[in-house]
Amino acid sequence: CGIVGYIGSRDAYPILIKGLKRLEYRGYDSAGVALINNDDLNVYKTKGKVADLESFCEAKNISGHVGIAHTRWATHGEPSSVNAHPHYSESKNLAIIHNGIIENYAEIKNNLIAKGVKFRSDTDTEVLVQLIEYVQVKKNLDTLTAVQVALHQVIGAYAIALLDKREPNQIIAARKQSPLVVGIGENEFFLGSDASPIIEFTDKVVYLEDGSIAVMRLGEELKVVNILNRELNPLVHTIDMNLGQIEKCGYPHFMLKEIFEQPECLKNCMRGRINADVDKVTLSAVIDYKERLLAAKRIIIVACGTSWHAGLIGKQLIETFCRIPVDVEYASEFRYRNPVVTKDDLVIAMSQSGETADTLAAIELAKRSGALIYGICNAVGSSIPRATDTGSYIHVGPEIGVASTKAFTGQVIVLVMLSLALAKEKGTIDDQTYNDVVKELSLIPDKMKEVLEQNDKIADLSRIFTYAHNVIYLGRGYSYPVALEGALKLKEISYIHAEGYPAAEMKHGPIALVDSDMPVVVIATHNAMYEKVLSNIQEIKARKGRVIALVTKGDETISRIADEVIELPKTLECLEPLLATIPLQLLAYHIAVCKDKNVDQPRNLAKSVTVE
Ligand code: G6P
Repeated sequence: CGIVGYIGSRDAYPILIKGLKRLEYRGYDSAGVALINNDDLNVYKTKGKVADLESFCEAKNISGHVGIAHTRWATHGEPSSVNAHPHYSESKNLAIIHNGIIENYAEIKNNLIAKGVKFRSDTDTEVLVQLIEYVQVKKNLDTLTAVQVALHQVIGAYAIALLDKREPNQIIAARKQSPLVVGIGENEFFLGSDASPIIEFTDKVVYLEDGSIAVMRLGEELKVVNILNRELNPLVHTIDMNLGQIEKCGYPHFMLKEIFEQPECLKNCMRGRINADVDKVTLSAVIDYKERLLAAKRIIIVACGTSWHAGLIGKQLIETFCRIPVDVEYASEFRYRNPVVTKDDLVIAMSQSGETADTLAAIELAKRSGALIYGICNAVGSSIPRATDTGSYIHVGPEIGVASTKAFTGQVIVLVMLSLALAKEKGTIDDQTYNDVVKELSLIPDKMKEVLEQNDKIADLSRIFTYAHNVIYLGRGYSYPVALEGALKLKEISYIHAEGYPAAEMKHGPIALVDSDMPVVVIATHNAMYEKVLSNIQEIKARKGRVIALVTKGDETISRIADEVIELPKTLECLEPLLATIPLQLLAYHIAVCKDKNVDQPRNLAKSVTVE
């Protein structure tokens, strides 16, 4: 979900709406705003998108210089205007917005109901605001103290922002395991669940630490305290993000923009780290933590979604070059399985947003066993990089499209660099291979551009898929995770059922599905697995399946057998995922556009899953 807040001398409403639009990618099933106007606290909310909220507010009083706003991804309670945030307290003196989950909400709710408190919604958030009001009234407390007392009783994760109409020149915000950023302007404050609604107004931000409460008051400095009211020293960062990075810049969708940005993003990711002239990879984390990294007996990669797919590629890279065993785990499974982790393990946490709740919890668990934790994240200053011992940012800029694209290729590049740097230190890679990979890495952005030039062709091809109900994606070796990722992209944004499979496994089940209505996308580039994949294609053709093959430029054999081919420039096998992913991203994109789906905000999904 997304949180925005403003307090200052400008009109709050336009700033809040703009902020919500920037955050809409985080959740978009309902939206709402609360504004303080003199003695009134007005809350407007509705099911649907931020645009629906705007229409809803057209005839309303939207004045006020202090406000909070929210865009929601439902956890407790279906998407509806009642369940949308902000939530009032019973007296309507308080209004709250909340990201996260209150785990003991049922217990708190029952206690409050027993004391006569009346509830309007099914959400855990309303429980929080009612609890704050209950302790406030019962003990006659000011708002800040009431928040502190109430949060003592709460188990769960939250980022909240609260208005109290009796203290109209103040916003109180608190965080535990759910991100919050305060922007500091001239006599004004901004609040966001990430920096994107803030950067237009100021580049001075404070990333709130876990367990801290920010008090933003007109005419005062930012005050940050903890739950016990101990004053904390907020660290003000200057952020290096510009508006162009979070706007569409002429593209119809963020996803298309982000796909096309990849060559540039990868250059940024490699800048200062790859020096092809002297064939060298330098990762500061590998220098700083060299001894502990070299001592690692095993690596565990924890991640979710697309990041988990990148992790699978990481496994192959690290095992090939560094000869260390690597396990790749879904963070959500790992955290609940009582896994065996020791101080000799290296745990790599991969996350675009740096906020995924399961990945954060997996880190906390691994930390307890003394393992070294290495983060590979995109969002600078987010929770995971702050929770890890060390790490490498992927530096691909903000990713707004819900379906991850440039973050995936960025993660793969970082994994290539990490495996090379480690292998060099360990002495498990020969000079020739090391030099070849480093040289080839610097050619990847231009080869990606070549792939992107086929965009029109892929758009044409995508029409074939419009009527498909199922699609299979096949690949082997390094291409197997690419097949998984291609299938995930299609599912996410076009709602067509798709499965990624290791090509040879097809005959153990999925081949039963193949008929003339079933497109099969095969990654069949010219590498060690070529002949094997060729046989797999023949097996599909023998069952009248429709084959769309990704081949190496100039391949004539597969071009004769497959129904459609997309050509990729030749590269090293370990770098093929960086090129093969691109046509699959474009294919998913164009199919979703053909089917008139909301590409950037697919139904039921959210960009950062800060709840488990
Ligand atoms: C959500 C997003 C996916 C993403 C996954 C993991 O499901 O919709 O695109 O891959 O979370 O997110 P992370 O930020 O940890 O990489």
